[in-house]
Formats: sequence, C-alpha cells, structure tokens
Amino acid sequence: MTTRRDFLSRSAMTAAGFGAVTVGQALPAQVAESVKQMRPPKKPVIVTRDTGDASIDEAYKMLLDGADTLDACNHVCVARENDPNDHSVGYGGLPNEDGVVELDACCMQGPTRMAGSVGALQNIRHACLVSRIVMERTGHVMLVGRGAEHFAVMEGLKREDMLSDDARKMWLLWKEDRNSHNFWGPPLSSPQWKQPAPPPTLNHSAIPRHPGPEWADVIRTRSQQLMGMAGDLGIAPHKRAFAVEQVLWPTTGTIHISVVNTQGEMSGATTTSGQAWKIPGRVGDSPIIGAGCYTDQDVGSAGATGSGEENIKVAGAHTIVDCMRQGMSPKEAGLEALRRIVRNYNGDMNKIRYLDMIYYIVRKDGAYAGVSLWNTTASGSPKIFVVHDGEKRIEKCAWLLDGKTTN
Ligand code: GLY
Repeated sequence: MTTRRDFLSRSAMTAAGFGAVTVGQALPAQVAESVKQMRPPKKPVIVTRDTGDASIDEAYKMLLDGADTLDACNHVCVARENDPNDHSVGYGGLPNEDGVVELDACCMQGPTRMAGSVGALQNIRHACLVSRIVMERTGHVMLVGRGAEHFAVMEGLKREDMLSDDARKMWLLWKEDRNSHNFWGPPLSSPQWKQPAPPPTLNHSAIPRHPGPEWADVIRTRSQQLMGMAGDLGIAPHKRAFAVEQVLWPTTGTIHISVVNTQGEMSGATTTSGQAWKIPGRVGDSPIIGAGCYTDQDVGSAGATGSGEENIKVAGAHTIVDCMRQGMSPKEAGLEALRRIVRNYNGDMNKIRYLDMIYYIVRKDGAYAGVSLWNTTASGSPKIFVVHDGEKRIEKCAWLLDGKTTN
C-alpha cells in the first residue's frame, strides 16, 4: 500500500528527475549586469545590407505600426529574393557548379525563442519563408535538399525554375572559361593548400583573390578575354563587369537583417544563393543557426555575409551575441568574432587575404554595428552597411584589417 508520505516523496524525486526544480533554480541565464539594465530603444532599429530598394523603409514602417519583428525581416528578404538583378539571393541567384540554384536561409524570432532553417533548397523562390514555415509548422529546426523542397510544395509554395537568363549566361561564362576557380581540392585551412603562383602562360592557374602587382597584366588580359566572351554570350553590357568579377573571384553575396522594436523585441533573418559555382549540396553559414544568424531576446541579434565556411568555424553570430551577453559593445563583439577567424589561420595573411566577412549587429537597447574583416572593397571604396533608426542611412563598417576585398 502506498502511503501519502511515499507518494509525496516519489513526486518530489520525479520533479527533480525531470528538472522542474533545477530549471527553476538555474533561471535566468547569466547576463552581464550592464546588459540586464538596458532599456529598449525609443525607436525601432534595423541593421542590414544596402538593398537599393524601398523594402527597408517599408519594414521600418511595419515596425512602427506594431508588426512582428520577424515579419519585418522577412519583408526585406522577400523583396531581395524577388529581384532578378540581385544575383546573391532567390530568383536570379548565381547557381552551383551544375547550373542549379540552391538557396540557404534561416530565421530566429526573439520573443518566441524559435528558429527555422532551410539548406540547399531548389526550385522554390522564397527560402526565407520556407525557413519560417519550418520554424512555425514543424518539430524540426532545419530541412535540406529534396526534403525541404517537397515540404515547401506541400505547404503551398510554388515550384519554379530559379535560374534567371542572366544567371544562366554568367554560369556559361564561368564554365567556358578554362582557367576559373572551382572548389575542389584542399581548402585554405589545409596544410596541403598551395598558393597559386603567377602562371607561366595565361592558360594556367586561377588568379588569387587579392592578387599582387605581379598579376596586373594577367588580370587585364583575362578580363578583356572574359569581357569579349561575355559579349558573345549575350550578357548585357552593364552586367559584363560583374559577370567577369564573379568568374575571377566568385563571391558569397547574402542578405542578413536584424531588428529591434520599441518593446525590445528582436528578430533576425538571413537568405542567400550562397557561394557562386559551389559544389552541389554545399551548405554555407546562412542557414546555420548561430553562424549566419543568431537572436537572443535577452541580449541582441546578429548575422553575417561573407565567407560562409569561415563563419561556420567560429559560430560567428552566436559568438557575437554571447560576447554582448558578457557586456561587450556590438562593435567589440563583432571584432572579437573576426579575430577568431584570423586566429584560425594563425594570422597567415597569405590565406586571410582570400577571406571576407561583414557582421550586422543590434543589441536590445538599439546599439548597433556593421563590422567588416577588411576596410575597403577591391575598388577602394569603404565597406558599408545600412541602418534605419527613423532615418535610413549608409554607414561605414568598423573593420579589423586594413586592406581590400573584391566584394
Ligand atoms: N555567406 C554565404 C555563404 O557563404 O553561402
């Protein structure tokens, strides 16, 4: 027979076993006192890449009107995914090695502390929305490949060919150029990686991402050849220079957006077609929660554009939010994540010069930063990000290294 005393003692043990007591004692998670004291901003704050369209202003208005913070993020992502002239995301994104567009995206919603993600998604335009549906309508966080596509269709999204005519022609240019980069062979982080040497003839070796002056003649000649080929392929004159650049130095264009509203509610979202000409099935940092995007309702939100593989290795967005949790400013936290990337190469500039990274960061009090590995683009213009806190403006990124990149 079970006595009342036995029952109470068993109940207490069960509660402890399932963590009811211990969780209660452990809450809340450690947050620096300075962060705990922070108040929400007086106006919403958006931090993102320059989109060149009205979507950031529209998202800001949504926040003023009380929209959910993730809805505002998705509004900007959807606009980019719809733009055939944005070759870094959605329809018009540059394809993989096989000429197939594969999209990555993820999102985190601060108030609900939910997350969703999709990787290597084919034939669906709005990867950002698929990641959100994964978040809201499944018991999973991440779906990839054919399963993700089937899921999206079953949830009512339209299947369509994501390869735009412009992107197809750019892929042909890359394919027809016998000297282009591909992603086979030992990576930068391998001891077996070899620095490309200036070629004995133009028909050998790829041009390094940050070529020294000894490459000037090669680049000029290769660029002229490629511009001619781009014309033959029917690439529009105003797109030829971009196409040639993507062949010589394939980039990892992406869009990330982090927002905070006047209640201190935050969200973040990231969407991309990933590394141009990647090996099919490659998934970058953008759909990795903690790398391409991370939002913690107690602290802030961050995300990345740039060298996905490097960002995965330092869990960049999570690192930044965690550094802010310990009391760092958004700028200090972003620089710390970048230092970890540099540390992974023991400071070897022969390798680091091939990398690129920008972090977009907002804290729960509205403090923000855009932080770049390098201070300028290849053409020497400053690395920039967009902030909207009642007035939309472009600001220069803080930066870790003095030098140039190609994007
Ligand atoms: N950061 C985008 C990518 O590497 O795919």
